[in-house]
Amino acid sequence: MAKISKHTPVLLQTAIKYLNVKPNRLYIDATLGGGGHAEAILKKGGRVLGIDCDPEALEIAQKRLAQACPNSLFSQKGEASEQDRVPPKRQWQLIKGNFAYLENIAKEARINRAEGILFDLGVNTYQLTSKRRGFSFKSRAPLDMRMDPNLNVTAADLIAVLSENELYQIFTKFSQEQLARPIARAIVGARKVKPIKTCQELTIIIEGVYQKRGKIHPATKVFQALRIAVNDELNNLKKALPQALRLLKKGGNLVIISFHEGEDRIVKNFLRENSQAGRLKIMTKKVVRPNKEEIITNPRSRSARLRAGQKI
Ligand SMILES: C[S@@+](CC[C@H](N)C(=O)[O-])C[C@H]1O[C@@H](n2cnc3c(N)ncnc32)[C@H](O)[C@@H]1O
Repeated sequence: MAKISKHTPVLLQTAIKYLNVKPNRLYIDATLGGGGHAEAILKKGGRVLGIDCDPEALEIAQKRLAQACPNSLFSQKGEASEQDRVPPKRQWQLIKGNFAYLENIAKEARINRAEGILFDLGVNTYQLTSKRRGFSFKSRAPLDMRMDPNLNVTAADLIAVLSENELYQIFTKFSQEQLARPIARAIVGARKVKPIKTCQELTIIIEGVYQKRGKIHPATKVFQALRIAVNDELNNLKKALPQALRLLKKGGNLVIISFHEGEDRIVKNFLRENSQAGRLKIMTKKVVRPNKEEIITNPRSRSARLRAGQKI
């Protein structure tokens, strides 16, 4: 098990407010992570199906939720209808899966409809700080970056086989890296001498391309782009959102926290198109960002943006 650095949930109160958690109603947390948002839903009396593609996250969340809600029996006094009461009698359950297959996962959990669905995208703190998972440019770990260890392709594989042009495309498309071309060229040059296997080796190559340091570390964007590519993050999100809307009850809320431009664009367009088609009402006229206080106490929240819609 990875070294545990606690994950602080981002925009917690705002997300819970937009989910409008009601006792005994069922909510899907499609990105369970450390279970922070799921725990808050349970504490408000809601029921939770938690999904994550990372078995380590599920293990961590399982412990947290068992502490927060040891009585996993669903209250029979609740207001939920018989049909809503699947899986019977349980307050929460966790399933390993990719939210790109949200409807299949819900079916597996015997859930027909949800009162609210949350996506808190990206990586969790355990993944980021793990010495083995290879998400951090500071780490000496192998360049892995798979959230789901069953995926076939790691970041090291991409770095080893993609052409200069393909690397350039990934770095520009997924993170708008301004020095995408010279970095891609430097990678291709370096790997001719010796394979690039660890995060640190890649970081040193990128640092060599940057003459000046800005506010963020020069490797930040390349690492983000590789992570998005390895985990196919944008396609998964595109596949998941229409399924989430179908799974929601009328009047149920969809809440999405994203962390970079590419994700936010997909969410924004999805909400706009479905609002124009009369399928949902946009609840967040303007994107919601964390306040200064949250950014200071949890710097990871600085790029978070929350949007929400209600199914009509
Ligand atoms: C930012 S964390 C969620 C943190 C959580 N809300 C909390 O408060 O602890 C995002 C989580 O989503 C998971 N994840 C990312 N993409 C996924 C996907 N396509 N399917 C399932 N889980 C995914 C990651 O493994 C990670 O644990």
